[in-house]
Formats: sequence, C-alpha cells, structure tokens
Amino acid sequence: MHKQLTIGLFGFGVVGEGLYRVLQQTPSLNASIKKVCIKDASKKRNAPAELFTTDKDVLLNDPEINVIVEVINESEPAYQIVTTALNGGKDVVSASKKMIAEHLTALLELQEKTGRSLLYEAAACASIPVIRNLEEYYDNDLLHSIKAIVNGSTNFILTKMFDENLDFKQALILAQQLGFAESDPKLDVEGYDAVNKWTFLLTHAYGIIEAPEKILFNGIQHIHGGDASVARARNQQIRLVAQAQKLQNGKVAAFVLPQFIQQDDHLAFVKNEYNGVVIESGFADKQFFYGKGAGSFPTASAVLSDIAALRYQYKYEYKKLYHHKPHQLTNELYLKVYVSFTDWKFIPRDEFEWIEEWHAQEERKYLVGVIAFSKLQEQNWWRENETSLILVPEPIIEETATRDLRKRSLELAGIV
Ligand code: HSE
Repeated sequence: MHKQLTIGLFGFGVVGEGLYRVLQQTPSLNASIKKVCIKDASKKRNAPAELFTTDKDVLLNDPEINVIVEVINESEPAYQIVTTALNGGKDVVSASKKMIAEHLTALLELQEKTGRSLLYEAAACASIPVIRNLEEYYDNDLLHSIKAIVNGSTNFILTKMFDENLDFKQALILAQQLGFAESDPKLDVEGYDAVNKWTFLLTHAYGIIEAPEKILFNGIQHIHGGDASVARARNQQIRLVAQAQKLQNGKVAAFVLPQFIQQDDHLAFVKNEYNGVVIESGFADKQFFYGKGAGSFPTASAVLSDIAALRYQYKYEYKKLYHHKPHQLTNELYLKVYVSFTDWKFIPRDEFEWIEEWHAQEERKYLVGVIAFSKLQEQNWWRENETSLILVPEPIIEETATRDLRKRSLELAGIV
C-alpha cells in the first residue's frame, strides 16, 4: 500500500511553481501540496492565495504534513528547514545543492539519527536520475570513472558563444531570463555550482566525503575568444567538465575544470542547458546519460520522482560509504593542460614537468604542458592575470606513466 503524501512546499520560484504544475498533472501519485511557504507575500502567484503563508512553522509544525519539499535559493535557511523537518519526523526532498554540499556530514548523521529520508535527485543534473543510478545500479566497486557536465548555465553560455557567436554577457543574460542561472550567476560562471554538485556525486559514486572548497575547480570566467579559435582549429569544443577517475593506486582523482572535448566524445553532444554524464565501469564499459540539467519542469520532474519514491519509503543507503570501503581522493597525478596568457612573465615555466608545445608570437600566447595536480592546488597563477587554463582531452597522467614519458623524452633529446 502506497503512503499518502501531504506536502509542505518551501519556495515558489522556477522549481516550486514547476512542481505545483507538474503535481496537478499527476493525480495518480496520491500526493498533494497542503501549504506553500514563501518569502515575499506581495508577489503575484499563479495559485490560490490560501495556499500560501510566510510562516515556516505553519508547515513544519503541521502533523498532517509528512513531506517537506524545499526548493528555496538561500542555503542557510534551507539547512534550517531541512534539519527541523527531519528532526520533526518528516521526510524531505531538496534541490539545494549548495546546502547539501556544505552540510553533507551533518545531513548524513541526521538521516542516521532520525531514520527519515532526505532525497535530492534534482540537486544534480536536474532531470537525469544520476544519484539513484549511482546508488542502485552501480552498487559495486567497479566504477572506473565518471565524467560529466553538471551545470546547465555554463554549458548554455559556451554553446551560445561557440555555435551562435553571442558574447559572454548576452549569453548569460539569456540563461538568466530562461531561469537556468543561479540568482548570483557567479556561482555558475565561476564553477561553484558545479563543484557543489560534484561534492555529493562523489559520495554516491565513491563514498568520498570532501568539502567543496577542497576539490580543485574553476569555472569558465577566464575562457578567451582565442581559446575558442584554438578549439575550432583542432576540431574540438570547450566544456566545463567534472571528472573523477580511479587511478592505479586505487585512489580517486577528482576535479571540475574547463576541458577541450573531441567531437566524438559523448559530452560534445551536450549543448545548451543539457547535462550529460559518462560512466565507465568494469563490465558495462561506457554508458551515457543525457538530459536537461536546469529549468523549471526538468528540475520539477526530479523532485516529483523523489516524492514518488517516498511513497515506498525509499532512502539513500550511501552504499559506497557504509557498505563498501570508501575511496580516498588523491593528488598524486599530473594533468596535461593548455594555458593561454598575455605575457610569459605570468607563467612559472619551471613548475611544469615539461612543455611540449608553445605559440608565443601572437598577442595571446599559449602552451601545452604537463603539471603536477598538487601544484595547481597550491598555486594561483593559472587563475590570475587573464590567464586561462583548459585541460586537454584525456588529461590525467598517472605518476608511473609520467616517469616513463619523462625518461623517454630525455632519451629522445639525447640527454640520457
Ligand atoms: N544554475 C544551475 C545550472 C541550475 O545552471 O545548472 C540547476 O542546478
């Protein structure tokens, strides 16, 4: 027998209103919104006035409400709502990626303590059911790598810049008008939103718990028109890619950085506000998930799916964390990077293992070289002075391979 769900909804913006509409079209779900808590009572809403309140306790203290759906913008109020609801014996569905990334440890403890369910499929890749797949389908130790586009706005901006020659600002305004961008678009553009999502996707993929600021990341804010021309000349595209890969030492390398993508890469197919996830596992080889990663109905569809899962008391088991030996992150690797810049004085050449290509004649210069991952973690030159760093396709070089390659290049140069 399916549980009857009575919902208290926090937020009636792009996602909240989308959910309200979607629920109206799915009466079979046996779920109804009893009350909606909003911040601004003066705003005109496309729903009956008696549905709304500005008092959060009306929802949180209502014993009839057994599910809180939280789709508000601000992370700290969202955390207060979610913790109060779980402590009060209610199940929760949330789409607040920043809040989840920043409070993951506390939220795990609270789920254990209360036995209630906290589901957040909508918080990463919106309409793509990536979390539930990582939890249920990849419930084993065979996940080699996961490579994904997890931010719709930056992907939208890159697509408009590359395919339609819009400039950055025009593309961003369009993303804001269409409701994809965060209210502070810096969160999208500078990679914060993507790394927040990557934080908890790493938990579901590998059992890794790490604070978002500890994960190496950047956004698309430094990508230059010249980089786009280089990409075109190489028949490649530029994407903001979140990547995690199990290395030979059994540990996991993870980062979120702009990357050149070959035309035959699955992620090259991912345009506009779509997201994509390529998973490589032991026996299945490659699998590609594709769908809308932002916007009202795509995000509401994931919230709806979580609500539906609550009818049969579904919970994340965090299998990779609790039932397997969790993986550890490593910084013992090298990355092959393209760096474009205005002056050699901004580039610490000695920090590179080697530089295999450079173009120094043009006003905007660039090089391709290999650098230790740890140096990118420790240093900031690659984010400053209009310098742009983009990974080349297949950027990870493991230590052993690096040593061999280095030896070979020295041999070729007649040095050893
Ligand atoms: N601003 C986010 C994005 C919304 O562009 O992906 C969906 O999480």
